[in-house]
Amino acid sequence: MTKTALVCGAGGFIGGHLVKRLKREGFWVRGVDLKFPPFAETEADDFAVGDLRDQYFCRQIVDRRFDEVYQLAADMGGAGYIFTGEHDADVMHNSATINLNMLDVCQKRNVRGMFYSSSACMYPEHNQMDPNNPNCAEDSAYPANPDSEYGWEKLFSERLYLAYNRNHGMRNRVARYHNIFGPEGTWDGGKEKAPAAVCRKVAQATNGGEVEIWGDGTQTRSFLFIEECLEGTIRLTRSDFEGPVNVGSEEMVTINQLVDIVADIAGKKLHKKHIPGPLGVRGRNSDNRLIGQKLGWKPSATLRSGLEKTYEWIERQVRGNQERAKAA
Ligand code: NAD
Ligand code: GDD
Repeated sequence: MTKTALVCGAGGFIGGHLVKRLKREGFWVRGVDLKFPPFAETEADDFAVGDLRDQYFCRQIVDRRFDEVYQLAADMGGAGYIFTGEHDADVMHNSATINLNMLDVCQKRNVRGMFYSSSACMYPEHNQMDPNNPNCAEDSAYPANPDSEYGWEKLFSERLYLAYNRNHGMRNRVARYHNIFGPEGTWDGGKEKAPAAVCRKVAQATNGGEVEIWGDGTQTRSFLFIEECLEGTIRLTRSDFEGPVNVGSEEMVTINQLVDIVADIAGKKLHKKHIPGPLGVRGRNSDNRLIGQKLGWKPSATLRSGLEKTYEWIERQVRGNQERAKAA
């Protein structure tokens, strides 16, 4: 029999790619989101536009016992969105309501289990002060001290999914994503993350010009390409391990190094101008010991290989916008 999947947040970056992947595997897929995917036609068999904060809408879309349910819908963005403090109440209220509603409805419909995308933003700030030596081992989560309300909501929701496992016999799976990037992700407008922002700035700069970077550029991160994020997501969902587990890359770089790689891909020599901006933690890197042990798999692709594909796509978006502006 054809397997069925529900993807919440299917109009977003990861959800849109996940729908394509599940279609390639032969699933019948229902996507759900506030909006259709902005950059490509959805490949979902059925796409419901609606608000997952609305319990009635949630009941309507969970009209069967889906084989797999992926809950990716959230009010989220990069540092420019989650670290300014301006959206804290919305982020906490919107994302928590979605998770509360979807768990309740899925449990009542006897859905076996759900996948939930938590974030590395739930790790304690005090373990991420040294840019060269951050600690993001799964068991370092407590005592909790995330540096953003976004991170606190993720921590609450992780606990909620695992409580449904204990009290309702569900088989929910929880991943902690570490900064996912790739084509068809948000690349402008304020919610974009560093890889997309840097690709956009480099694409817009002329050779010999400058790019603006928030902070001194010595803060560190690791970035995971979308294809490996999907691989980890699907492997975890179908495994016997509930998590939480990191799904991220261990190739940690400074933001200055990120800019250098993208400039090199673009074939441009650029001056870095460091300006004030929202910074988040000083250092963050995925710790992949647990995923390796539990799933017998961990991400291995290089940052550069993912950035080549991402830069190519963002450069095309930038050029398209410039051509449209000229023609207008
Ligand atoms: P995204 O913003 O592209 O996708 C999220 C989608 O959820 C959006 O399309 C949005 O419209 C939808 N949504 C928000 N509120 C909704 C509502 N009330 N009803 C229906 N849909 C709603 O983000 P993404 O990068 O695809 O992230 C997917 C998930 O992974 C999120 O839970 C996010 O917090 C988590 N995550 C992502 C990253 C990353 O680097 N991309 C890192 C850590 C965790
Ligand atoms: N977004 C962005 N744009 N960041 C920049 C820029 C810029 O132009 N210039 C420098 N940075 C710096 C930020 O100041 C931050 O220190 C670092 O690059 C990384 O920023 P982001 O990629 O925006 O976010 P993050 O890594 O702090 O958090 C992201 O990853 C989490 C998971 O690891 C966010 O997307 C979270 O939502 C996500 O959960």
